[in-house]
Amino acid sequence: MNTPAASTAASSHDTLFLSPQDVASLVSRQGMVTTLQGMAACIEEDFLRWQSFDKSARLASHSEGGVIELMPIADATTYTFKYVNGHPKNTAIGLSTVMAFGVLADVATGLPLLISELTLTTALRTAATSALAARALARPGSRVMALVGNGAQSEFQALAFHHLLGIEEIHLYDIDPAATAKLMRNLQANPDAAGLRLRVFGSTLDAVRDADIVTTVTADKTNATIITAGMLKPGTHINGVGGDCPGKTEIHADVLRAAKVFVEYEPQTRIEGDLQQMAPDFAVTELWRVLAGEQAGRDSPAQITMFDSVGFALEDFSALRYLHETAGALAIGGTIPLIPRLDDPKDLYQLVRPAAPRASASTRDLVAPDLRGAPSTLSGKQLPAMA
Ligand SMILES: NC(=O)c1ccc[n+]([C@@H]2O[C@H](COP(=O)([O-])OP(=O)(O)OC[C@H]3O[C@@H](n4cnc5c(N)ncnc54)[C@H](O)[C@@H]3O)[C@@H](O)[C@H]2O)c1
Repeated sequence: MNTPAASTAASSHDTLFLSPQDVASLVSRQGMVTTLQGMAACIEEDFLRWQSFDKSARLASHSEGGVIELMPIADATTYTFKYVNGHPKNTAIGLSTVMAFGVLADVATGLPLLISELTLTTALRTAATSALAARALARPGSRVMALVGNGAQSEFQALAFHHLLGIEEIHLYDIDPAATAKLMRNLQANPDAAGLRLRVFGSTLDAVRDADIVTTVTADKTNATIITAGMLKPGTHINGVGGDCPGKTEIHADVLRAAKVFVEYEPQTRIEGDLQQMAPDFAVTELWRVLAGEQAGRDSPAQITMFDSVGFALEDFSALRYLHETAGALAIGGTIPLIPRLDDPKDLYQLVRPAAPRASASTRDLVAPDLRGAPSTLSGKQLPAMA
């Protein structure tokens, strides 16, 4: 990546740092729609070169209330990882359910080029991925979407589906009416959502009944059944976002049985997705194969399709490279001296070498003077010159 930020960071050894405010300012300077489109384009581009990546399922550390995950991935030139958590009860104590940050590094040297917030970015990249998948899998002409779960991710999903897919009406439901009211306020005040009709419903069943697309983005660390068989009309596309961890599902197994199911990275989704409920040989299709034209998406207008999204490291790779390129072009963010600057890279000890004590008249001949100065003597012994 030869962005101005990248070359500056590489020459100075400093790392570009993007705070949540920096990413918010990047979105505001570019516009939300351009940002979502740009991220979706990067994600698609990277899914289309699937074989170039060294991939693995993420490393998860589970606890009673949540999970903390590390998501590494690399191609021949760039390495990235994301740190992300999922703690559904966090909102009750004023913390987000999902919080994240990540790193983009140069494979040739290992130098970290970018360290960035990824909490806001995760919402952007998840919405961009959902819309990308729906573009490939939903019935053309889909105009109505149900959005079940109206928390932190929800506005981004609404805007991505409106602008990247042509959704005109969204049916909202959340067990917490305050979350739905917040979403309404945010979208009603947003010119990007001016053409979007929003309707609030009192149950999931009522919200999904007439929808062409059903997005579930709830947070509950349990095997929930938000969507059950018989709730959906033929031809519905399900965008299942919230079932993303062992013991945390949203869609009843019968719905998966009746659907054609698509996943990001099969080994990871078998453990984490709604797919965890199914037998190990339950057939699924990886999304990249559909995008690449290797395998079919939906087979008929009446078929129910489901994108069993869990969030894959490749989407964060794409998002990080998008941020790096765009922040570089817009001169957003600052640099941090994350990696020590050493005159001699073999002499790391120079960082902690004690400063020489001040010489007194009586000890002047026994103590080495400034080690950074010219060669000096300690009890008559020659010290090597410092670089
Ligand atoms: N697949 C991905 O790539 C991806 C990315 C980010 C987040 N997620 C997941 O998406 C989910 C939502 O994340 P968030 O940041 O918006 O969380 P959040 O806590 O801000 O919002 C979740 C909302 O779901 C609602 N909810 C819970 N149970 C419900 C139910 N049975 N019916 C209707 N609504 C219900 C809650 O009241 C809350 O408003 C989480 O489970 C998170 O792990 C997935």
